[in-house]
Order: sequence, then C-alpha cells, then structure tokens
Amino acid sequence: MSVCVHVPLGDRAYDIQIGQGLLGKSAQYIRPFLRRSKVVIVTDSIVERLHLSSLEEALDKSGIAHSTLTLPAGENTKSWPFLSQTIDFFLNENVERSDVVIALGGGVIGDLVGFAAAILRRGVRFIQIPTSLLAQVDSSVGGKTGINTQQGKNLVGAFHQPILVLADIDVLNTLTRRNFIAGYGEVVKYGLLGDESFFTWLEKNGPSLAKGDIFARIEAVRISCQMKADIIVRDETEQGERALLNLGHTFCHALEAAAGYSDKLLHGEGVAIGCALAFETSARLGLCSQEDPSRVRAHFRAMGMKTDICDIDGEMPNATELLALMGQDKKVVGGQLNYIMVSGIGQSFMTSDVPTEIVLSVLHDAKNSGARSLPRQR
Ligand code: GLY
Repeated sequence: MSVCVHVPLGDRAYDIQIGQGLLGKSAQYIRPFLRRSKVVIVTDSIVERLHLSSLEEALDKSGIAHSTLTLPAGENTKSWPFLSQTIDFFLNENVERSDVVIALGGGVIGDLVGFAAAILRRGVRFIQIPTSLLAQVDSSVGGKTGINTQQGKNLVGAFHQPILVLADIDVLNTLTRRNFIAGYGEVVKYGLLGDESFFTWLEKNGPSLAKGDIFARIEAVRISCQMKADIIVRDETEQGERALLNLGHTFCHALEAAAGYSDKLLHGEGVAIGCALAFETSARLGLCSQEDPSRVRAHFRAMGMKTDICDIDGEMPNATELLALMGQDKKVVGGQLNYIMVSGIGQSFMTSDVPTEIVLSVLHDAKNSGARSLPRQR
C-alpha cells in the first residue's frame, strides 16, 4: 500500500510517495527523472548497513549506475568539512548539472546533501529518501537545507526543493523506540499547530502506531506531509505562516543548546517538551484553556515521552539562562523574540507580546517540578 502527497510548487512541484517496500521499488520512481542512467548516493554509516543494499539492488535491476559516499552518523556531519567532502565527491564523480543526487538517511544527511545539491554547479536536482520518522514528516519536505556552524544550528543553508521524496514506512522498523518516539514529537506538533481532529486521532491511534501498525504509520506520515505541503505552498520561504511549523522550537532550541546537542535530548524530544511549554505559556496568558496543556502532556506521557525540563537527564541551566539561550532563536527580529502561541489545540499564531516574567515562571516550574495539572509518571 502507498499514498502520494503532491507539493504543487509550480516548476518546483514534487511528489512525496509514502508506503511499504518503496526502497525495493525505488528505481521505478527515480528513473523518470534521469537524463542519463547514473546517480550518486550519500548516506551515513548506520543507514548504509541497514538500507543501502536495498536501494542499490533496485538500481542494479533497473540498470542505473550508482556510486555512494558514506559519512559518519551524527549531527557533527552537518558541518563545513563534510559539506566540502560531499561536494568533492560529486565533482570527482563528474556529477553534471542535469544529474540527480540521492540523500539516503535522516535529517542530517537530507539537510547536508540538499545544501550540497543547491550549491553544486549553482543547483542540481536531488531526491530525498528519509529513513527516520522525523525526516519523513518534516526535514525531507519543504526544501530547507543547510549545515550547522560554531555559532549555531542551521545558520548556513538554502531553500532547495527535492524533486521526489520516497518515505518507505518499512525502514521505520529499524529505528530504536527512543528515536521513533522522538520523531513522533514532530507528528504531534502538526495536530497541535493546525488540526485538532488529527491530534484527537493521534490520541486514539498513537499507541498502536508506536507498536508498528502500518496503516496508522502511513496515515500519520501522510497527514503530516499534507499539512506541511499546504503551508509550504502558501509560504515557501518562511515570510509568515511557515514559522508556525516551529511550534515548540524556540524552547526546544534553548534546551538542545543547554544539553550540548548531545544524546541527553534528541531534537524530537525537545520539540515535544517545547510544545508542552508553549501550551503552558499560552494558558498562563489566558490565550487557551487550562485543560489544553494538560491534554497535551497527558498524550505525551501516554506515549512515554518527556514533557518537562526536569525529565531531561543531568543538570540543566536555570530559567534565566534558558531564556538567554532562547534569545539566540532565528525568530528574533530587531532584538524582539517572536513566539508561536496557541488559542487552543490546532490553533497556533505568532506573537511577540509575551511577557518575559511569564516565560520565566513557565521555565522555572518545568525545570523544578514539571506539570502541576496531572500527577507525574516516569
Ligand atoms: N522544520 C520547519 C520547516 O521546514 O519550516
């Protein structure tokens, strides 16, 4: 079974194919884009071991020549040295302007390879084959590409849309539960920012989805991609509405920085905590009901997810220090921090009108005692 989400961006339009067994069938999707029967693939050492042979066999059967660069797994790969190595690989493989390069991996590989494709010969086409849940529902879609620098995450990059996304649901079976559930944080984000009925569906179907229900997984990825596609078509380069996709991210980026971008906190885990904090802040400002943050946290807890700063292992900075880290956010304009707040589940909006003392009190409570509205479960 597979479904397709179309991203209608004019001459940059593309399909997101979502379903089972897509790696094995990948050549039939890739071939129509090739002007010569050759592709280059970039992957990481973990994905190489798990999934590269399926892609290579499919290409071999279809007579498509291929060569592969394997990079180290991990966030450090999204950096200048590996961008340089990727570009050298493409040039040494004589990748031409009309060729296609393939990113096989999670968000790190997708962002790095997409950026390399954006700048090679002023832009070559690329295909995303995302292998993590987070990449399937977020980073492989929408054309944000880039690398991290010493100064921060994603500070160097380009908008460069893929020409095709192949989200093979079967590859999710190889993720650890922690990694899968972290990606699920991004799935829930879509319901919270724009579709209460999707959040309600997740409350019902989340547990079976986590256990491996294929239909629930396909449906969750489809709805997430469709919501993202709808927003991107209206605001491709984040002049306004696209920023709503960053619900929870201002809190999340501060927490990730405080955790040293380490395994202490995976990005999707930070998104979940950040969403809970955005709802808590909104409730304290009287923008949404008190029940909303309780409902959000209850679902995260039911899924075994982190919901508060005190759920993160190890010592975290105090509220004032975390607020300073939030000031590094890309949504700071003229020194003013813009927040994504909510007026209810599925109703988000951007505002700078959030008193600092309210944010400090939310951070303080989340660090010291966690949610007060429900008994804590570890
Ligand atoms: N991950 C947020 C965006 O693509 O805009």
